[in-house]
Amino acid sequence: MGNMHPIFLVSFLVVQLLWLPIGSIGQPQGGAVPVTRLQLPLGASFPDTTAFNQAGRGPFTGISDGRILEYVNSSVGYVEFAIASPKRPKIICNGSITNPILQPICGRPLGLAFNHRTGQLFVVDTALGLAVVSPDGGNGTLLVTSAGGVGFKFLNGVDIDQDSEVVYFTDTSSKFTLSDIIKVLLTRDKTGRLLSYNPRTNESRVLLTGLAGPNGVAVSRDGSFLLFTEMVTNTIRRFWVTGPKANTTELFAQVEGLPDNIRINARGEVWVATTVNALLPTAVPVGLKFSEEGVLQQNTTFDIKFGSSLLLSDVNTFEGKFYLGLTTQTFLGRANISNSF
Ligand SMILES: *[C@@H]1O[C@H](CO)[C@@H](O)[C@H](O)[C@H]1NC(C)=O
Ligand SMILES: *[C@@H]1O[C@H](CO)[C@@H](O)[C@H](O)[C@H]1NC(C)=O
Ligand SMILES: *[C@@H]1O[C@H](CO)[C@@H](O)[C@H](O)[C@H]1NC(C)=O
Ligand SMILES: *[C@@H]1O[C@H](CO)[C@@H](O)[C@H](O)[C@H]1NC(C)=O
Ligand SMILES: *[C@@H]1O[C@H](CO)[C@@H](O)[C@H](O)[C@H]1NC(C)=O
Ligand SMILES: *[C@@H]1O[C@H](CO)[C@@H](O)[C@H](O)[C@H]1NC(C)=O
Ligand SMILES: *[C@@H]1O[C@H](CO)[C@@H](O)[C@H](O)[C@H]1NC(C)=O
Repeated sequence: MGNMHPIFLVSFLVVQLLWLPIGSIGQPQGGAVPVTRLQLPLGASFPDTTAFNQAGRGPFTGISDGRILEYVNSSVGYVEFAIASPKRPKIICNGSITNPILQPICGRPLGLAFNHRTGQLFVVDTALGLAVVSPDGGNGTLLVTSAGGVGFKFLNGVDIDQDSEVVYFTDTSSKFTLSDIIKVLLTRDKTGRLLSYNPRTNESRVLLTGLAGPNGVAVSRDGSFLLFTEMVTNTIRRFWVTGPKANTTELFAQVEGLPDNIRINARGEVWVATTVNALLPTAVPVGLKFSEEGVLQQNTTFDIKFGSSLLLSDVNTFEGKFYLGLTTQTFLGRANISNSF
């Protein structure tokens, strides 16, 4: 995003202000992996993330009107699972699009992570705060809305250390909200934070400040480190939780496209959702696979043609398939995992 073309900015603004998909002008990608659409119900849009629970149910996703939906199967489709805020007036909110006025009352769940031991779903609702939902869904409970005396502004990514149960999450900016994401990029904002919340003590901590648009976060299999993406600098950074380098960070990888969510699966594969030429007509959704040492192992282009409104926001590997978050669309993607570079 360092050398942004004016057209990029204009189309980004259009998408941010109107949130309307702009025509299907993207080019088919040679060798791109075919994607099946898991179409959201009518009126639902902008599924940013995907999550599966310990029983293998899902994908779950958060949509622009504040609801958290669960995909059941091809005949049932999606069912309503939860909302982060118990005060959400459904008559106003249901079907609403991302909107700076409605967001604080309707909520906007951007990140979801299940605690596999308790079955609880932890939600980073960018407009409300960190919330928890019981295993059966329904109304969530807001846990915290600030850390270190600074209120959350733009909560974005979340992951859980399944051993310690600590919840790690990002606040993209301390100045701008989701509706002002363009300003995060334009001003090269560096007020983002990496945070943690311990449900056993109800204590939240500020792990890092001064981050450049932090987005996704992932906990390593042994809990010794975290990886998180930074949109402003197109970087992936590692934060050491334990060991001799505890509390320090280092560069993990530099990527070409705009990085969004990041995942570390049971095999230790790191998957990052990126969009090359993000929001230009030539946008290309690319999933990058790294080893835990930061070596690029695979570059998978997905065959989704949605022109300049395309943003790939999540690449989640689950039971032999990719599940794709598409933050500016009305469907999640599903694709077979191939080993093509
Ligand atoms: C879909 O899920 C429903 C509800 O769990 C179940 O009754 C139905 O048999 C499933 N259909 C398929 C095709 O798996
Ligand atoms: C919200 O609207 C959808 C249809 O758009 C409906 O299926 C769902 O039950 C509604 N939820 C509530 C809480 O009213
Ligand atoms: C959630 O909260 C709403 C509004 O306060 C209430 O009408 C509804 O019954 C609650 N749902 C559950 C499952 O508790
Ligand atoms: C957890 O901490 C927050 C403030 O950090 C406080 O508002 C809330 O009441 C606490 N919850 C419990 C259950 O103690
Ligand atoms: C890392 O930071 C935490 C919280 O500030 C502190 O408790 C811990 O001792 C630090 N660890 C090291 C190795 O410096
Ligand atoms: C991945 O593939 C895309 C599309 O072919 C290309 O633009 C990009 O440079 C590649 N990225 C890396 C890191 O190889
Ligand atoms: C995925 O693989 C299965 C079995 O090999 C095949 O039937 C299906 O068409 C593939 N799906 C896509 C989207 O390529």
